[in-house]
Amino acid sequence: MSTAEHAEVNRRDFLYIATGAVGAVGAALTAWPFINQMNPDASVLAMATVEVDLAPIAEGQAITIKWRGNPVFIRHRTGPEIEAAKAVKMEELPDPLARNANVKEGDPATDVNRVVGEKEQFLVMMGVCTHLGCVPIGNEGEYAIVEGGGKMGGWFCPCHGSHYDTAGRIRKGPAPENLPVPVYSYLSDTKIRIG
Ligand code: FES
Repeated sequence: MSTAEHAEVNRRDFLYIATGAVGAVGAALTAWPFINQMNPDASVLAMATVEVDLAPIAEGQAITIKWRGNPVFIRHRTGPEIEAAKAVKMEELPDPLARNANVKEGDPATDVNRVVGEKEQFLVMMGVCTHLGCVPIGNEGEYAIVEGGGKMGGWFCPCHGSHYDTAGRIRKGPAPENLPVPVYSYLSDTKIRIG
């Protein structure tokens, strides 16, 4: 895929929302600097939690917010994306663990273990490739589904070719783990607090 096509994908995929505490993120191909979360400085502590209203995110749309210096992908999945994720057998997953801070450590990477509560339509996860930290591109890769003539769901990290499925689980490429799901909870039907 050419650079121009990548740029088109990025424009289509990312709806940037910038409010006071929630910063927009930059280009999808830039590596995101890691921070030392064991010794957070004052600016990191100030961003220890972030509240996000999910209501404006239409089905099939995704936003990227910044939390503790890293991008977090929030996607409102379509029914077919959820069905595709549920249909995957556990033995097909390179990383069988949920990697979800909201379920028990060691729980399997079923689709339901990748979300919180009954809200299976909302996938919230770190937008940092588990290989070397690039920011994956949404609606791309071999595990996106084809819906309405275009790719939906799924993520692709172009740095070294890692493919993530519609639940953010690594399926192909050098990345060793599923995209991690941070601690978050629902404050209301459509509002979450991350952190
Ligand atoms: Fe994503 Fe290497 S950083 S594949």
